[in-house]
Amino acid sequence: MNIDWEALHSEAKLIMKKAYAPYSKFPVGVAALVDDGRIVSGCNVENASYGLGLCAECGLVSNLISTGGGRLIAAVCVDADGNYLSPCGRCRQLLFEHGGNEMLLMTPDGPSPMSVILPWAFGPDDLEK
Ligand code: THU
Repeated sequence: MNIDWEALHSEAKLIMKKAYAPYSKFPVGVAALVDDGRIVSGCNVENASYGLGLCAECGLVSNLISTGGGRLIAAVCVDADGNYLSPCGRCRQLLFEHGGNEMLLMTPDGPSPMSVILPWAFGPDDLEK
């Protein structure tokens, strides 16, 4: 499947502008290509009860499932400047659940598979053992 990284980057920057991050003032946007060709995205949504803030990847996964599910092929996560952002540990786990080891994440060094981003990940297969 062809991956239009520029389209993903643009979509991530677009949704980053919609982030609700009044406390950290650190807006995040993420966009991903799904195996049926659609693009899903999300932004962070913080809360006055700080610990309840939702990362951008939470929104993306919710968007993925609510629009029909599927597997994530490639993702781009950005900060306020549109620079590639490293997803936090919890969000790596969220992305892994829906993209597996093969999903590609854009990094400053180019696309990198989840097997590198989250090595020896715990996932759905472990529950079958
Ligand atoms: N954040 C994300 O949305 N995704 C990440 O992968 C890293 C962190 C958000 C959480 C919080 O709203 C803000 O960035 C600062 O930590």
